[in-house]
Amino acid sequence: MTSETQARFARLLHHRKASLGQGDPIAPPIVASATFHLPSVQSGGQFYGRNGNPSWDAVETQLALLEDAEAVAFPSGMAAIAAALFATLRAGDRLIIPADGYYVTRILSDGFLAPLGVKVVQIPTADYASADFTGAAVVYLETPSNPGLDVVDIAAVAARARAAGARIIADNTTMTPLLQRPLDLGCDLVVAADTKAPAGHSDVLFGHVAGRDPGLMTRLRDWRRMSGAIPGPFEAFLVHRGLETLELRLERMCASAATIAARLAEHPRVRGLRYPGLASDPSHWACGGQMANGGFLLGFTLADAAAAEGFLARCPYIEQSTSFGATHSAGERRARWGDAVPEGFIRLSIGVEPVEPLWSAIAAALAD
Ligand SMILES: Cc1ncc(COP(=O)(O)O)c(C=O)c1O
Repeated sequence: MTSETQARFARLLHHRKASLGQGDPIAPPIVASATFHLPSVQSGGQFYGRNGNPSWDAVETQLALLEDAEAVAFPSGMAAIAAALFATLRAGDRLIIPADGYYVTRILSDGFLAPLGVKVVQIPTADYASADFTGAAVVYLETPSNPGLDVVDIAAVAARARAAGARIIADNTTMTPLLQRPLDLGCDLVVAADTKAPAGHSDVLFGHVAGRDPGLMTRLRDWRRMSGAIPGPFEAFLVHRGLETLELRLERMCASAATIAARLAEHPRVRGLRYPGLASDPSHWACGGQMANGGFLLGFTLADAAAAEGFLARCPYIEQSTSFGATHSAGERRARWGDAVPEGFIRLSIGVEPVEPLWSAIAAALAD
């Protein structure tokens, strides 16, 4: 993490300080109100709960500090992705999306954008480096991709997409703005599921879009206001609290992931290990460059579906759940969702457990 990123995070922790008066709460209040006192519409401030809420404002301030850009909060990662796509595309446009990224983005594009006249083109993440973006209105990338952990050279792809006249949207969920900064590398918008590491405790869904073009960000706020895809104040409070420990949690999660990946690499039952932090990994070139480190996600394949399910069921410190980035390590066999991966492929998200007991549990479950 660069010193600039660390400074941004320190500012995040104290962002409320300047506006606090004597006796004000340090934690942001949960403002559960649909309406606000409004004797006049001229006076500014809050006026209706679909337009704004002080609890979202607090999270958006944190996210804006992290992204070094304007941030608009949404009630889930998919709500943020939908907002970014619907705000940038119109009938006749060509959209490039990854064939191997988060599958709901593909279903959304095929099921809702294509019928409105958007031409949706899917390409594997590994092919972004050589893809022809001629005629594209939006190039959407996800790096490292979920679950395959293939990586796009963001600056190179953004430059080529821009030269072709496209806007570039990056899903930064697997890295977070602390570990990777797509806007600095030429992307127009970042989308993210803050459900994952930013909130980090498996208790809330949330998302955001960030960008530096004021016109585009106004369009995103308009989309939220008109579609009604608004976060709740309690959810915003939980994300605000989660974000305060993001840097600390990531430090543990990424360090443990690196340790566990190195040990899995030596294990006779583990095949096809993917962890960008390993020198042998095809995505390793990005570590220390666009990626601050290898992250907290890894993927590997056991003999077959039964071996993978058995391992997950036996390991007491891996939650069998379909998400990642939380305090608890979590794993799942991705083929059960139809991802184009081997039947025995497991996506493992490393949590904040002390690494040695976690590794002992993994090693024991692999040995059985
Ligand atoms: C890379 C990626 N983007 C977006 C999402 C969607 O986030 P949410 O579940 O908060 O809608 C996910 C969820 O798993 C994801 O993995």
